Amino acid sequence: MTITIKTGAEIDGMRQACRLASEVLDYLTPHIKPGITTNEIDRLAHDYMVNVQGCIPAPLNYAPSGYAPYPKSICTSVNHQICHGIPSDKALKNGDIVNIDITVIKDGWHGDTSRMFIAGEGSIAAKRLCNLTYEAMWKGIAKVKPGARLGDVGHAIQTFVENAGFSVVREFCGHGIGLKFHEEPQVLHYGRPGTAEELVPGMTFTIEPMVNAGKRDIKQLGDGWTIVTKDHSLSAQWEHTVLVTETGYEVLTLSAGSPQPPAFITG
Ligand code: MF3
Ligand code: CO
Ligand code: CO
Repeated sequence: MTITIKTGAEIDGMRQACRLASEVLDYLTPHIKPGITTNEIDRLAHDYMVNVQGCIPAPLNYAPSGYAPYPKSICTSVNHQICHGIPSDKALKNGDIVNIDITVIKDGWHGDTSRMFIAGEGSIAAKRLCNLTYEAMWKGIAKVKPGARLGDVGHAIQTFVENAGFSVVREFCGHGIGLKFHEEPQVLHYGRPGTAEELVPGMTFTIEPMVNAGKRDIKQLGDGWTIVTKDHSLSAQWEHTVLVTETGYEVLTLSAGSPQPPAFITG
């Protein structure tokens, strides 16, 4: 297996899929309030992707080896759920934090992005965790340029998170993406500068750090998918799909409703 390098029309295909994925999150945003169930969010997202965008929801029936087919169209990970939370009939409560992870397929190309939402009024601790995780993702993105290595990305995220007293989940990582949902390389959210793959223009991959308020240890639930913090501490995640350009990076999963990048990016 090797890392695929996208060119020309392939990059345009990625740009379109990625913008559409981000636009699903824009569409969902006004609905994420106390009282809505994660199944209702899943249905809204499914119908928007299929009927409005003409996309395929990539998670639906996705079955990597060792996993049962994923039963829903999106992932909704609430509070101490780290990732791969399966939508259910449980309603969001005031103060809940939820990661909504959208992956669409358009013309064969995958776009993968997630954001954190707070239902109603969040605690100071919840807001701090969500904001810090957003900045951690951008600390990694900022390292992306030809000649840099994936270890530079992971190290930037890890040091930022750990210096703030939080922990980085190790068992799940970002990934190459294109005609396949999960391609090489693996994009670890921890590591040593100057190690791992060297970045080359035309690579497309996700950066999607999972950050726990407590310890980094995880547990998988009996549904075979949902990952939670072992200590039940809150966990947050943000995800963008990025392209390595000749001079740096292009974030592909942007749309009108994307949160602004942090000040250390915009200057
Ligand atoms: N979107 C997730 C990621 O960022 C993968 C979800 S796989 C699923 O890689 F089957 F749970 F949807
Ligand atoms: Co991903
Ligand atoms: Co994702």
